[in-house]
This record gives sequence, C-alpha cells and structure tokens, in this order.
Amino acid sequence: GCATLDALRAGVAACTACPLARTRQNTVFADGTGSSGVLFVGEGPGAEEDRAGVPFVGRAGKLLTDIVTKGMGLAREDVAIVNVVKCRPPENRDPTPEEKAACAPWLHRQLELFDPKVIVPLGRHAATTILGVDAPLGRLRARVHDARGRKVVPTYHPAYLLRAPQEKKKTWEDIQLAMREAGISVPGER
Ligand code: URA
Ligand code: SF4
Ligand code: URA
Repeated sequence: GCATLDALRAGVAACTACPLARTRQNTVFADGTGSSGVLFVGEGPGAEEDRAGVPFVGRAGKLLTDIVTKGMGLAREDVAIVNVVKCRPPENRDPTPEEKAACAPWLHRQLELFDPKVIVPLGRHAATTILGVDAPLGRLRARVHDARGRKVVPTYHPAYLLRAPQEKKKTWEDIQLAMREAGISVPGER
C-alpha cells in the first residue's frame, strides 16, 4: 500500500520475497514518467538491466526506445516501462510462477500509481500475467482487452522482433491501436 512511486521503489529495492533477490545486482523498478498515458510491461530484467537498475537498456531496449521515439513520436521518458519481475532471473531463464506471484503486488501497485490510460504488455509472459489468461500472443494481440477496468493492448516483445523482424509491421499496428486508445495522435494521421 505504498503511497507514492518513490516509496514503492524503495520497497522493491529492499524486497527479498523470492529467490531472485539472492542473485540480483540491482532491482529494476521502472523508467519514465508515463505522462503519455502508455505503460509498457516487459518480462524481467536481463544482464544489462540488472547492472544498470533500469529496464530495457540492452538490445531489446534499444528497439523499444526506437518504437517510442521514431514510431510514436514521443520521448522515451513520456512512457512508463516496467517488468513483471523486478529482479533478473539467472541465465535469462523465464521467471517461475512462484517468482511472478511473489512480485505481483509490486506490479499491481505500480499500475495503480502510474494509472496509465493503456497498458501494453510486451510478449506472452507479460500479456498472460496482466490478463490472467493463458494464450499465445498471436491470439491476444490486435485488440483491446479489459483488465480490472484498465485497457490492455498486448503486442510482441522487442527481443522476439529482433529474431522475427517480419512481425514489426503487426507490432506497429498494435502500437497505433494503443495510441488511439490513449488519445495520442499517431504521426502522419489526423
Ligand atoms: N526484456 C525485458 O522483458 N525486460 C527488460 O527490462 C529488458 C529486456
Ligand atoms: Fe522481490 Fe520481485 Fe525481486 Fe522477487 S523479483 S525479490 S518478489 S522484487
Ligand atoms: N511469442 C511470445 O511469447 N512473445 C512474443 O513476443 C511473440 C511470440
């Protein structure tokens, strides 16, 4: 029940609620103000994020930054960026169901405090965590879901797009949908 994002960040920094606390270098809380009304949710920190304590700063992060700046026409700081788990799973393995459950209260309080107009889960893990359903990303993307009264528009994870660049066009369609839902004008449209 932390009252502010700063208090929540401090709570996460001290968290030892799951085994990932033992192997992390840094907790990775969030980046950006979210002033645009769009909040992206990734899966969990990788090696570079663990070192920096900042989400999406590696190769996938560069692609996400390009989507925000070159695609959406925003500054990176205008969106909020968080992850399902705040500590790096060793060897870049997927977070376990127990780790995700342990970290879920932090995520849900982040959603309350950032209070985004639209949540954009990146990839299957974030999408199924936010929506509480298990389905392939291809079945979840391209539409607006409701999760606890919030609009959710899932799309592909940028790490997946690095391996499957042919899906970038569909990702851009999802991002445009999210922008319209957030009331942000899409560059080149009126
Ligand atoms: N992938 C994620 O899901 N999150 C990050 O912060 C970086 C890469
Ligand atoms: Fe706590 Fe989440 Fe880190 Fe686990 S991953 S120690 S629950 S902050
Ligand atoms: N499957 C996933 O799990 N994530 C993606 O981003 C795309 C396909």
